[in-house]
Formats: sequence, C-alpha cells, structure tokens
Amino acid sequence: MAEKKFPSGFLWGAATASYQVEGGIENTDWAQAARDGKVPPCGSACEHYTRFENDFDIAKSLGHNFHRFSVEWARIEPEEGRFDEREVEHYRNVLRALRVRGLEPSVTMWHFTLPLWFSETGGFERSDSPKIFARYCAYVAGKLGDQCTHFTTINEPMVYAGKGFWEGLWPPFRENILRHLHVVSALAAAHRAAYKAMKKVRPEIQVGVTKHNIFFESNSNPFNIVLHVFIDWFWNHRFLQLIYGHQDFIGLNHYHHKKFGTTPRERAAAVRSDMGWELHPASLYHSLIALKRYGLPVYVSENGLADAVDSRRTEFIKNAVRSVHRAISEGVPVKGYCYWSLLDNYEWASGYGPRFGLVEIDYATQERRIRKSAYVYKQICERNALLD
Ligand code: BGC
Repeated sequence: MAEKKFPSGFLWGAATASYQVEGGIENTDWAQAARDGKVPPCGSACEHYTRFENDFDIAKSLGHNFHRFSVEWARIEPEEGRFDEREVEHYRNVLRALRVRGLEPSVTMWHFTLPLWFSETGGFERSDSPKIFARYCAYVAGKLGDQCTHFTTINEPMVYAGKGFWEGLWPPFRENILRHLHVVSALAAAHRAAYKAMKKVRPEIQVGVTKHNIFFESNSNPFNIVLHVFIDWFWNHRFLQLIYGHQDFIGLNHYHHKKFGTTPRERAAAVRSDMGWELHPASLYHSLIALKRYGLPVYVSENGLADAVDSRRTEFIKNAVRSVHRAISEGVPVKGYCYWSLLDNYEWASGYGPRFGLVEIDYATQERRIRKSAYVYKQICERNALLD
C-alpha cells in the first residue's frame, strides 16, 4: 500500500504557553487569584524559563520541526507603557534556541494571563484596551519579527470570555452574559487593532488568532438541529467573522465534540480523557472542514488529551493525523499540526493534576520522562506520513 504522505514542508510539533510552563510569574491576574485562594498556585511550573534549551533538545529528538509558545505579557510590559528589554532578550534567546535546532517558531502574544496593572484597571473592559493591546503586540512584533514570521495575537478568545465572564470560573470571575458579549467584541477590536499595528511594523509577518472550535452535531430532532446550528455559529464562527479581513491564517485549537440529543448508549460508549472529555476519532476532521469557507491557511495550533498513564494518547494522535490528512485531501489548506502539549503543565483551574504532555514532568525533581506515545508521534513527524 502506498504511504499516505503529507505535503512537503508540513510542520509537526507541540505547543506550550508561558504561564503554564515557565514558572516564577507573579504579576498576573492568575497569580493574584492564586494568592486569593481562588485557583491553584502555579509556582515554578516546569521551570521552562531556565530549562527551555533542554526541552527543545527533547522536541528535536522527537522529530519536531515546529514549536508554538507564548510570550508573557506581564514580563514584557510589567507596568503600563514600560517595556522590559531583558525579557525581550530572553524571548529572543528562546527563538534562537528553536532556530538552531531546526524548529520553526510560532509566537502567541497573549495566552490567558493578564498583567496585574491591566487586569486591575479593567482589563478588556477598559475602553482603550484595543489600543493598549495593539501597542504591546506591535512592540513585540518589532522586537521578535526578525526571528519569527508566525504570530497569533489572542489564544482562544471565546474560552477566555466564557470562563471569565460567563461561567465565572477564571479571573475575573464574573457571571454576566452581557459583560461576556461586551468582552468578546472588545477582544475582536483588540485583535483587529493589533493585526494592523503588527503589520505596520513588520509587513512580512503572518498574523492570526488561535480559535477554540468544537465539533457540534445533533440528532434529527428539529429543536436540537436549530440549537446546534445556532451554537455552532455563536461559538465557532462569530469571532472569526468579527475579525474578517484581519487574519493571514487560522489557528485551530480543537478538543471537543458535542452532540445535541445523544442516547444513553452513545454516552456510555464514548472513550474519554482524564478530564472526562469525549475523544471522538473524527471530530478534528469535521472542525477542519468547517474552516474551509474562510479560504485561509490553517494550522492545528493545539490538539491533545490528558492521559496520565498514556494508554489512549497513541490512538488519539493517530486518529488526529488521519483527520488532518483527510481534510487536506478534501481541500483544506492545513499547514501544520501542534500537539498540546510538549510538557505536562499547569492546567489552569485544574492545577497540576491533568497530564497532557508528550513528556512527563516530575514536579518534585523537574525530571523529564518521554512518554511512549511521543515516539509514535515521532515516527509520524519523521516520515511526514500516516503510519497506518
Ligand atoms: C488552552 C490551553 C489548555 C488546553 C487544555 C486550551 O484550551 O489553550 O492553555 O491547557 O486547552 O485544556
């Protein structure tokens, strides 16, 4: 049987986010929420801030040629309008470390944690928040844009607004649907402003968002059909429409499938991750197909599962890459795939319990242990092809 290849130049890697892995970040809304006892403390995390070279050696040894990470806004702009050159230099070193190992970088400007000065003065509810965010993004693009061509502004705007302003589970712990709607619009305005400001400083870079999209479907009940069509638009497409014309690619973060009107048998048969999330074998394919309408390059910027004993990760990854291959063969211009995450890390309100990493972290000793599934993914990356 002929090997099912991916297009040449396809990017394979894994993702992390600064607050979840770096350690030692105390001047953010999340660190404050931990001090207030509202979320688990993050502490030294994986000490990736000092161990990044070693971690990139591991990524390289695992056949990766792509790496998505975020820069920490609170490090770079610790006070309003004051930028810290030493932190910029740190991230320039991170980029160099990736480049010398042959890992193409993708930088996220903001991945959930806000500098305290910003959150305490209203965050994205401030009327000047788009201007403030754009100034920060343009500054970073100017400083890092010679080392990196691939940037995302906002990680998962709908998740940020949903958890923080609707469900009240994340900072700033609000449960107000009107505020939620307001913040979604503010985030779209912030992205548009940042997109323009970044392109002005560095016209050659590629700028997008990473969008958390869910594969929604329903049974044949008309009420469920209407509900699923509405929620699909509201969650998956509305934000992308609000930023129409201001993105060079779409980053897809994909984890979930939701069917309206499942039967008890379907629910019982579902395979689940340690988070209780259903692992639907083709949901990534459906989410990719749904992005075809935008006519933009697509990167799977996150896709993964919590699986501490590593019993479902291999099959999960194989299904995911089959989904990507099928979507490409049906015309979706998918350019890369990032597994979430390279390392076990701080899983937000769930703390250090869930284990998403290709690499296991022993938080007591900071020892790294490569999981078996990471070697299967390595074969996929190196062959640039499906295994079976
Ligand atoms: C986020 C990550 C998170 C992962 C697993 C994504 O929604 O971008 O920060 O750790 O999902 O929950």
